[in-house]
Amino acid sequence: MSMISFAPGAGVWLLVTPDTSYALRIDESGAPCHVAWGPRLTLEEAEELAAPRPSATSSFEGRPAVGEELPVDGGTRYGPPSLQVRFTDGSRAFEWEPTGHRMDENSPRTGELVLTFRDRRYPLHVALHYRVHTDTDVIERRTVVRNAGDQPVTLLRADSAAWTLPSLRDYRLSHVTGQWSAESQLRRDQLPYGETVLTSRRGITSHHANPWVMLDDGTATEEHGRVWSTALAWSGSWRITAQRTPDGRAGLTGGIGHDGTSVPLDPGEEFAAPPFLGLFTDGGFGGASRAWHAHALAHVLPHPDEVAPVLYNSWEATGFDVDEAGQKALAERAAALGVELYVVDDGWFGARRSDRAGLGDWTPAPDRFPDGLGPLVGAVHALGMRFGLWVEPEAVNPDSDLYRQHPDWVMHFPGRPRSELRHQLVLNFARRDVADWVHDRLTRLVGDHGIDFLKWDMNRAFSEAGWPGRQDGTDRLGPAYVRNLYGVIDRLRADRPTLRIESCSGGGGRVDLGILSRTDQAWASDNTDAADRMGIQHGYGQVYPARTMGSWVTDVPNQLTGRTVPLRFRFHVAMAGALGIGGDLRRWSEDELREAATLVAEYKDVRHLVQHGRLDRLSPPSDDAPSVVQYTAPDTSETLLLAWRRTARHGSPQPPVRLRGLTPEARYRDARTGAVHQAAVLTGYGMHLDLPPGDWSSAAVHLIRETEA
Ligand code: GLA
Repeated sequence: MSMISFAPGAGVWLLVTPDTSYALRIDESGAPCHVAWGPRLTLEEAEELAAPRPSATSSFEGRPAVGEELPVDGGTRYGPPSLQVRFTDGSRAFEWEPTGHRMDENSPRTGELVLTFRDRRYPLHVALHYRVHTDTDVIERRTVVRNAGDQPVTLLRADSAAWTLPSLRDYRLSHVTGQWSAESQLRRDQLPYGETVLTSRRGITSHHANPWVMLDDGTATEEHGRVWSTALAWSGSWRITAQRTPDGRAGLTGGIGHDGTSVPLDPGEEFAAPPFLGLFTDGGFGGASRAWHAHALAHVLPHPDEVAPVLYNSWEATGFDVDEAGQKALAERAAALGVELYVVDDGWFGARRSDRAGLGDWTPAPDRFPDGLGPLVGAVHALGMRFGLWVEPEAVNPDSDLYRQHPDWVMHFPGRPRSELRHQLVLNFARRDVADWVHDRLTRLVGDHGIDFLKWDMNRAFSEAGWPGRQDGTDRLGPAYVRNLYGVIDRLRADRPTLRIESCSGGGGRVDLGILSRTDQAWASDNTDAADRMGIQHGYGQVYPARTMGSWVTDVPNQLTGRTVPLRFRFHVAMAGALGIGGDLRRWSEDELREAATLVAEYKDVRHLVQHGRLDRLSPPSDDAPSVVQYTAPDTSETLLLAWRRTARHGSPQPPVRLRGLTPEARYRDARTGAVHQAAVLTGYGMHLDLPPGDWSSAAVHLIRETEA
């Protein structure tokens, strides 16, 4: 069956993915309308669904608020518009006039449908793009708006896409909320009637919300039920509006910018909204997560097949107190543990002795690195590790040479205060000269010192986001900033293909499918407390794969929470992602170093399962019951269980854990104990994990399929 087909009689387009379908048509007014999004359909079945049905709407009502592919501001529409334009004569409506469609299946694995339209009166063109692949149920949608006239146009809203859900008995919204050091807190709430807005007004993706949502009818579970989910591939301000109408419908619209955004479109200019991806699954929330992970590995990450190295990061060990001797001492200890990538964090440059100065001056501090970074990089390489360096290229401390030379390079409004957060301001990356300067500086930094990895941080939200000197600059700043940021990263990578990048934004403030398409991993949170981290990682993994989820083992008592948990527990939690170590190894005892080296080696034995396997969340984070995740090889030859129990309670039930996704009828051997288990018992009846007694008890169980004798 082809990925895209068209039934001219009914005027229906049908997109098919391995297990799902998406259908749409153009109605009598010319507007693109939704037909279906759900289980797989034939074209004939899609035609049946597209057949017009008598409308129950009275003549008092306008057009239904849910059900168009991109509800515009225009005519009798009263829902949240996905596209709102203002023409120079003051007119604000858009009226759809279809101009054609293209179905492109040139690649055997990918197909694209493009529907083109123009306004009936004004020379404004709109193209709706739909991309499908043969190996994922994710449908990528985006919208391109082009001003084909000779007068400017303003886009007051230009969303990437609107998604329509089928009529369900109820609607439940899953999403994450959070704050610094408490990102990715999973929420599932009934979707209220009216409009529910999830947004970032911060210029970055944000710690407080993340641009994905899942909707179900309130009955889906981890493994069962229909779930519709969407995720926006954008790293700046964004808004997703979920709408539930009194007539029992629900839909979503999402795109860049927040309330009050307006994007100027000069004659001939085009605005390409970023992709807004959608996924339907009937495999519950676990099925949705697995599909998103597989999609990210197949179509988003730049080097999906690579295994993330075990890294060491010096931040929690040294803070700003970074120097050559101290870093060399840490590097030696890290190498002895089996670390593969050594990352020097903040504090290595300019006058950076605290967060009050130096940001922007990307040259090694002469008093700390008298001979530059060369000797340290050489030492790290000689120890067999790659070398990584922290940078925060988009920000500047007012107390820096860069700011003293270029005070106009930061975003600001003339005559208004320049608010500081973390004692810093944000460079106006929308300015080409600023982005080029940063690109040049980073190119030299990376090239001069043989740097293999950048931890690219961005530690504050925008404020006073003005662009003086350019008439429409303030309106252009948001999208141009993100595009130039992407451009600098893309150019750096292209010039130095071996460079790997970690996305960080005060922890997990910039994790999204846009940044993940050009970085290799993300720092999920500045909170490294293993107990808190269980919840953060649970939320992170709803959409983003473990391959990208940086997770460190740090010292106790934890710097943030004051909590002390065993080294083994900390390792087992961090092993659920891309393992790193961030403790002060100079203070670790010989016993701790020995145990850590063993656990690093154990992680290396199983990381291919964590980073490229299938995730089953067998039991979610809880206070006294063990939380268990399972990572299984795509060919089901091996599986890993990670189990964590925070609090032991006498008498609390300890049911066996039923595994998933094994080869039926096979036997699996426990790599540590040698015990052999039958798959049917493991999946049908379960496995007793027998966690050691006490609080903060954890286990890693690696099972390997026995080959037939
Ligand atoms: C942010 C990052 C941390 C660390 C500090 C350095 O908070 O998230 O990991 O790099 O900056 O200042």
